[in-house]
Amino acid sequence: MVRKFVLGVVTLVGLYGAAFAQNATKGAQVFDVCRSCHQIGPNAVNMLGPCLNGIDGRRAGTLPGYQYSDAMVAAGKTGTAASKGAVIWNEAAFSQYIADPQAMIPNIKMFFAGISGKDKEQKIKDLWAYISQFNADGSIKKQ
Ligand code: HEC
Repeated sequence: MVRKFVLGVVTLVGLYGAAFAQNATKGAQVFDVCRSCHQIGPNAVNMLGPCLNGIDGRRAGTLPGYQYSDAMVAAGKTGTAASKGAVIWNEAAFSQYIADPQAMIPNIKMFFAGISGKDKEQKIKDLWAYISQFNADGSIKKQ
């Protein structure tokens, strides 16, 4: 009985791990549409857009050495009409943003229409699973 239970837990944890890895892998493919402007991972640097390492928990518009628009800086300080308070990147804020960036933060200089399509919710989840796994130094967080 106890053994069965332990086995069950081990299986569940294993499945969860697999599902998470798969999402991040799919997210890496979705991230291809971002790569023309953003780098992430080891040795990533700012391009047209800021380097996205360490994005999970980062306040909008605050990566040192990148020249943000006034709108993005203000979003990180006070927020916008569409954001719930100052924008600090987490899954909720990112999901709202990437579906329609200019709708959440008007007048930014990220010219990207947003992730669309009927599977956009899954794509955005996968995308967040991928980008949120990188530490500020470009290494991957230990799970
Ligand atoms: C055409 C170029 C371009 C594309 C494509 C693009 N971005 Fe951006 N992104 C930018 C620019 C430029 C900024 C800075 C905006 C500003 O300061 O107004 C930015 C800002 C951001 C920020 C805020 C970063 C911070 O430090 O506050 C996030 C998050 C982000 N982009 C994610 C993405 C993701 C994910 C994708 C792909 C789905 C993507 N971007 C596609 C150009 C782009």
